[in-house]
Amino acid sequence: MSTMLIKNGFIVTEDEVIKGDLLIADDKIVKISEYLEMRADIVINALNNIIFPGGIDAHTHMELPYPGGFSCDSFETGSRAALHGATTTIIDFANQQKGKTLDHALKLWHKKAKDHCCCDYKFHISITDVDETTLDEMKNMYECQGIYSFKTFLTYPDLMISPDDLEKVMLKTKELGGVVTLHAEMHQIIEALDQEFSKGLKTAPYYHGLSHPDTAEEQAIALAITLAEKTQCPLYIVHLSCKKGLDLVSAAKKSNKVKIFAETCPQYLLLDNSLYKNSDHTEVMKYILSPPLRTKKDQEALWKGVLDKTIDVIATDHCPFTLKQKKAGLSHYKLIPNGIPGVENRFEMMFSECVSKRKMTLTDFAKIISTNPAQIFKLYPRKGVIAPGSDADLVIFNQDKKWKISKDNHHMNVDYNPYEGFLVSGKVQSVILRGNLVIHDEKLVNEKKDGIFVF
Ligand code: URP
Ligand code: ZN
Ligand code: ZN
Repeated sequence: MSTMLIKNGFIVTEDEVIKGDLLIADDKIVKISEYLEMRADIVINALNNIIFPGGIDAHTHMELPYPGGFSCDSFETGSRAALHGATTTIIDFANQQKGKTLDHALKLWHKKAKDHCCCDYKFHISITDVDETTLDEMKNMYECQGIYSFKTFLTYPDLMISPDDLEKVMLKTKELGGVVTLHAEMHQIIEALDQEFSKGLKTAPYYHGLSHPDTAEEQAIALAITLAEKTQCPLYIVHLSCKKGLDLVSAAKKSNKVKIFAETCPQYLLLDNSLYKNSDHTEVMKYILSPPLRTKKDQEALWKGVLDKTIDVIATDHCPFTLKQKKAGLSHYKLIPNGIPGVENRFEMMFSECVSKRKMTLTDFAKIISTNPAQIFKLYPRKGVIAPGSDADLVIFNQDKKWKISKDNHHMNVDYNPYEGFLVSGKVQSVILRGNLVIHDEKLVNEKKDGIFVF
């Protein structure tokens, strides 16, 4: 048995912050106490540092296929960057290809991740083709393959399903006990605007934002809430970006007629659509994602939602493309691959914004960055909490260190950072994954690619 003792930290448990020591044996947390007097194989002095549960990023796209290739972080590069930024578990999306089975998608994603992923991982399965076989397969996915969440889209021709099929997926998911996640944008609205802009030769990246209005998001969320109420299926809205959508989520939560969760991402909290007004298209392309960046008013509403807990999770939707990949689509906004990087910066940036700037408590921060996604996606209490018996996934965090985000200091495999120059208060010192020290004194000390699929 190997042991590790972390001394003198501010340990963020689920209910309180304990100033004291924490003992790990092999891969598990064993004891938390104000003072532990014992020997251990490794002793770390965490004096004045905060000890958080490892971050859980519930929304990533490593090696996501798109017509021009793949998003540019592999499971290896993306997960290593995640660890540098205090995230010890990612939940990636295994996308069904229309005409192929869920099992095909799952096998493909396991192949990408196994022996390559450096942090722990789990998958959502995106259902893009709904027939009897798919619905039967969902049972196998849930009961035998450790897949508890089914992703649906109401836009993207390759991925979208009809409202009738969404209802079928919800009924099956409810029967199984899982959760349906939704990319909430109504394709018909986007398509009509695309056609109008194309006729007018309005093809610059600027029009991407205009072709994805908040009403498209609002209508998709309204539809999904109606179906969730009808089927009683738990619903999780991914990458919520606007006030209109948030208001619907808030009302649905208050109504108590449906179990609904909302996720937003740092990009919607920190960046806004003024970035689309730049006449340099090679700047605008960096921020092409869906839903697009919104207004400052939306941003304010989302912050309110984060602080009043209408929003349950901050994930990243990490989906990076290099400048070359983005540039290849510059002739028409529809051809620019959608997505931005963020998996490495989420924890520190959000600590800075939520705790340092907006005075969120440490326990609430741990919930939005780790515990809540663990609970929603059935990783809890193995993950997402500092408690005896839980996996020893821990972050030793220096709240006083100030630094600037840059493509020159990040570890993601992408040649720009959407938050370039952003000032952050707080820095990860060390990261422990299932009892193994992987980051120490801000440096990678373990190059193993031994992340596991969490069942
Ligand atoms: O623009 C985005 N968000 N790309 C990643 C895929 C998705 O829609 O989540
Ligand atoms: Zn999406
Ligand atoms: Zn996504």
